[in-house]
Amino acid sequence: MSEAPRVDGARLWESLQQYGQIGATPDGGVTRPIFSVAEREARALLIADCRALGLRVRVDAAANVVASRPGAEPALPAILIGSHLDSVLDGGRYDGAFGVLCALEALRTLLQHDITTRHTVRLISFTGEEATPYGTSTFGSRAVTARLTNVAANRLPDGRTVRDALAACGGNWDRIAAAPGELGPVACFLEAHIEQGRRLEEAGQALAVVSAVCGIYRQHVEFVGEAGHAGTVAMGERRDALRAAARFVLAVAALPDTVAAADPAATATVGFLEVAPNSPNVIPGMVTAVTDLRAGDPTILSALVAGAVSAAEDAGAREGVRVSVGTVLDQAPVVFDARLRSALGAAVREVGGDGRELPSGAGHDAVHLSAVAPAGMLFVRCAGGVSHNSGESMTPEDAALAADALLRAVLALDR
Ligand code: HGY
Ligand code: MN
Ligand code: MN
Repeated sequence: MSEAPRVDGARLWESLQQYGQIGATPDGGVTRPIFSVAEREARALLIADCRALGLRVRVDAAANVVASRPGAEPALPAILIGSHLDSVLDGGRYDGAFGVLCALEALRTLLQHDITTRHTVRLISFTGEEATPYGTSTFGSRAVTARLTNVAANRLPDGRTVRDALAACGGNWDRIAAAPGELGPVACFLEAHIEQGRRLEEAGQALAVVSAVCGIYRQHVEFVGEAGHAGTVAMGERRDALRAAARFVLAVAALPDTVAAADPAATATVGFLEVAPNSPNVIPGMVTAVTDLRAGDPTILSALVAGAVSAAEDAGAREGVRVSVGTVLDQAPVVFDARLRSALGAAVREVGGDGRELPSGAGHDAVHLSAVAPAGMLFVRCAGGVSHNSGESMTPEDAALAADALLRAVLALDR
């Protein structure tokens, strides 16, 4: 393996900056949500970049972009590498795009050095990994693993349905059930990603192997009170949905304390609130909230879920507001494949790292892939752990090391 070539770090960095211009925000980040104009532009650039390399490119029913370099033994399942090109609103330029462009750089390096692999190596850029208020998250990776729930009729902020927006990106909701078959047999999936935390920075390490990803549970919580005049309805006579939601938000934020002894990394967040009618002189009649609860252990996650339900009921009861709670996402914790972790650890050590392992508090496409094939992930250091924020940053040197390690792992797993 020592003969594995090094990637071209300057070329990788240039691609990262070029894609970072698509949907660029004034402060250096990107806003590139699923099916947006910017996300379409990014996928068009990726398709052009892959075609320029002579790769076979196709867009599947979920609008995932898949670019293949055939291996010498076509009967073997493909080695899949990639991540996602969409971002949260005002997000950073590396979350997702880094893994896609590392995969592209790995393929460029194989081509440049004329290295023939036994397995087909396939880059995949998954559609819409990030969560949205309209019910999509890890859209493409759930589609190819037959885990996507029906969100076809949900509406984007621009009024289009998911079905129509998907079609505009080359996908087809009517064929979504065929997406796993279109992907074909997978030997393994590898995803490189920024850490989105500070542990690598604090340890003075550029890279880590991801051991596991926490479970994530999201609830859609509706508070229905009664709208009324802000100046004429006495304070004691109100059924203010936002007052109930406010109690709820604080109660949810306190939930991780209740499980901290067992899991200090557990989290609970209300990141989405919609207030109706949202008018300064009207008592809020209705509030929709979405919770995001995370823990590495299913029992602890269940405790957070139950805690959020009783917090909602309690807040509603105190404010005379009706409450309903529905599940948006129920994603179990995942421990990554031992063989892949060991291959990735060896690759990290080859490029100078200590090969340490870290669990992830962020969800990733690799979680879904792990249900159908061995999956593994590499984390790369990012400055201050800043992510889901336009201030996300990393160094060109770390980027190149991650791509080097990814390529080495691919070559090791190809043997
Ligand atoms: O929400 C997550 O954990 C991921 O960044 N999509
Ligand atoms: Mn993200
Ligand atoms: Mn991501």
